[in-house]
Amino acid sequence: MKIAPSILSSDYVNMERDIHVVEEAGADVIHVDIMDGHFVPNLSFGPGIVSALRPITNLPLDVHLMVTDPDMWIEPFAKAGADTIMAHVEATPHIHRTLQLMKASGVKAGIVVNPGTSLSTIDELLPNVDQVLVMTVNPGFGGQKFLPEMADKVRRLSDMRKARGLQFDIEVDGGISDQTIESCLTAGADIFVAGSYVFSKGEPAAQIAKLRAFEH
Ligand code: DX5
Ligand code: ZN
Repeated sequence: MKIAPSILSSDYVNMERDIHVVEEAGADVIHVDIMDGHFVPNLSFGPGIVSALRPITNLPLDVHLMVTDPDMWIEPFAKAGADTIMAHVEATPHIHRTLQLMKASGVKAGIVVNPGTSLSTIDELLPNVDQVLVMTVNPGFGGQKFLPEMADKVRRLSDMRKARGLQFDIEVDGGISDQTIESCLTAGADIFVAGSYVFSKGEPAAQIAKLRAFEH
């Protein structure tokens, strides 16, 4: 079980402090949400955030691209120091090429499916990915309500992985809390993104410990 705090909900004027707090609390990954105002109705950060964070933490930086033209951003984010880049399958008609660009840039390659997107859209890609992110809210904002029916989607993806002997990680993102994490964990998810639950609902270290308590 890996916990990936999303800096979208961190204190932007104290981000270095917040990163160190979650690092010391045992976070496994830092999740970086990139929004372009087109693919999702919100704006967040550019590659500069990854350049700024790279020297202050040893944790992997996972970049979640919520942008309409993911291909043009892969190299800039890879050069900035991203470890994993994830692109939405809905964001481009050429997601296979997007994955090739990720591999060529030397980062781990991830794909993302929105709540309304069928797993059939990523079936052909599964042997080529390191990570699949199942959105458990519609992307664009932190602090939204978890969609409980997504746990079944995680279970079906986990079954596909097992049936085909594949090794990719399954990540969930959106509304993850002590109320919702267990359904995703038992369904087969490996990486748990949490934004508002970690940074806005209490002391981040205590919040991470509460999520970790579900590990079995
Ligand atoms: C949503 C983002 C999430 C967001 C999650 O569009 O992809 O990573 O930060 O925030 P919470 O955990 O508050 O739902
Ligand atoms: Zn995200």
